[in-house]
Amino acid sequence: MSAPSICVFDSAEVAVRELAGELSELIRSRAAEGRMAVLGLATGATPLPLYQELSRLHHQGLSFANVISFNLDEYLGLARDHAESYWTFMHRNLFDHIDMPESNIHLPSGVLPEAAIPAHCTEYEARIRDAGGLDFQLLGIGGTGHIGFNEPGSPRDSRTRRVLLDEMTRCDAAPAFGGVCQVPTQAITMGCGTILEARRIVLLAWGERKAAIVNTALNGPLTEQVSASFLQEHPNTSFYLDHGAASALESVPSPCGSTVTLPRRACVPG
Ligand code: F6R
Repeated sequence: MSAPSICVFDSAEVAVRELAGELSELIRSRAAEGRMAVLGLATGATPLPLYQELSRLHHQGLSFANVISFNLDEYLGLARDHAESYWTFMHRNLFDHIDMPESNIHLPSGVLPEAAIPAHCTEYEARIRDAGGLDFQLLGIGGTGHIGFNEPGSPRDSRTRRVLLDEMTRCDAAPAFGGVCQVPTQAITMGCGTILEARRIVLLAWGERKAAIVNTALNGPLTEQVSASFLQEHPNTSFYLDHGAASALESVPSPCGSTVTLPRRACVPG
């Protein structure tokens, strides 16, 4: 087992340029082999600069025609055309600006009869498997330490399923919805086990607001209480941070990014 690599950049913009370079390389090399690139995508404020950069690269000639995407999650109770659905978010911020075929885009459905939810979740997992599994999974981290919507209590081997949103998560989302009462109470999310099967994972975090939970995820115990802590065991994960998000970590030099910080525990092999 190798610990996650921690790359600290001078700004989110610098970090996402690096990551967009890695993703273009993946997409182009797959296209050259006549294969698809399978990306797991995230929503929220954190990936926005990456989506802007990917849209810019598309305008400079990068084609997404051979990309299949699976989003981490969707609010239950929101139709696709709801202003705050993740379907709308992804189209507004990425899909409307690139040339991915609509049929290659996958998000869990937010409107399902109760009885149809388990089958829908099983089918989402099957679609990821049928696509060949996730080549790359993009993550943010929530105040509770969630990845996707795997709130405290989510098992390491959990799969795509319906979850209850933590109050902290709903409060964080309240401004966008015009009040916490408007925020859905449930969602469908990929599970921790689904995410951890991705062959490569990059977690992005910006700003001091994320510093404590980033440190807990990297240096705290592996626990269902902080689903991001499971990333400590993933063999190919990087945390891309700005200085604010890295400010609770201890620093040592390392050749990754413009300035690099590795918390001491993450440096210890195996
Ligand atoms: C989004 C998701 C969440 C967010 C997390 C951080 O699809 O699954 O885990 O990544 O809540 O949200 P932001 O980026 O808004 O701070």
